[in-house]
Amino acid sequence: MARVFSGIKPTGEMQLGNYVGAVRRWVAQQHAPDQVDAIYCVVDLHAMTVPYDPAELTGSTRRLATMLLAAGIDPDVSLLFVQSQVSQHAELCWILNNVATFGELRRMTQFKDKSVQHSGVTPESVTAGLFDYPVLMAADILLYDTEEVPIGDDQRQHLELSRDLAMRFNHRFGNTFVVPKGTFPTTGARIMDLQNPTSKMSKSADSPLGTILLLDDPAAITKKIKSAVTDSGSEVRYDPENKPGVSNLLEILAAVTDQTIPTVEAEFSGSGYGAFKAAVAEAVVESLRPVQKRYETLAADPVEVERILANGAQRAEALAAVVMQRVRRAVGLLPRPL
Ligand code: TYM
Repeated sequence: MARVFSGIKPTGEMQLGNYVGAVRRWVAQQHAPDQVDAIYCVVDLHAMTVPYDPAELTGSTRRLATMLLAAGIDPDVSLLFVQSQVSQHAELCWILNNVATFGELRRMTQFKDKSVQHSGVTPESVTAGLFDYPVLMAADILLYDTEEVPIGDDQRQHLELSRDLAMRFNHRFGNTFVVPKGTFPTTGARIMDLQNPTSKMSKSADSPLGTILLLDDPAAITKKIKSAVTDSGSEVRYDPENKPGVSNLLEILAAVTDQTIPTVEAEFSGSGYGAFKAAVAEAVVESLRPVQKRYETLAADPVEVERILANGAQRAEALAAVVMQRVRRAVGLLPRPL
């Protein structure tokens, strides 16, 4: 069974891009015939790399873990835990900091985007944590001998860096890490903002109308999709270059109904934008309905969620400890006393 690892940040609430690009696949893989040995992580240490409110972080971490369970992560099949509850993540990050270079981290596009978005103008005020973000992500992955990392398109560059660090480390210190590979969905790898279909949908977008949150009620989802920016013309056609708005809606519809883009495109080829948007809204509402229902039940029992996370952290720590002993030996640190 392939070892799979992936993570999600508790910054704000889960949005449709996270669900379609990553989480839905995590859930589906659990019961696929070529079942995997999967570990999923709420990466709270990553959420600290941009300005945040401590009380909000505590709440979003709990809500995100609850949401992952509601989405269908089964703690009897997959391991679910919170990153900061397993101290080896930060420990391995420090060791990998001595393998990663300033030059390669400076070239990360997400760092370049976020350092402008979050800290005004001066590069001087960007935190070292934001700069180091991809190294912590590499530590997350390498700590579990991960073979596959199911992610959306925006994480490609970070995954490439994790591979480079693993290979460089192995070359310098002897074979220690498994070199992971990224896996990407065929549809929905990059869901775009509904108001600005040339940027990706994200929790930190300018207009709340552009982002569908997993807990949005049916009326809010319908309103957001009906007011999505479409393109000139009236034809429902998949053409991301010239019709980014319509193409994004086709991509969403295909992903949430498990169909291919040509199939949904053919179904709506003669329709106007109005009927098409109504169908997309209904499909999204229906695909989120069971998740929202389960969320309500789970949120009413926070003690159970806490128990699942504590158990996950304990199991993750046991796996991480074995890899860390191997890493310590390779780099010349004394073994940790048992
Ligand atoms: P985060 O929390 O930003 O996103 C979680 C997952 O959702 C995907 N995603 C999208 N997919 C399609 N369309 C979108 N608009 C969209 N927005 C987000 C992301 O690609 C991601 O797979 N750095 C990671 C968190 C992380 C991680 C890891 C992931 C930390 N350590 C180790 C994998 C392995 C991130 O930013 O997630």
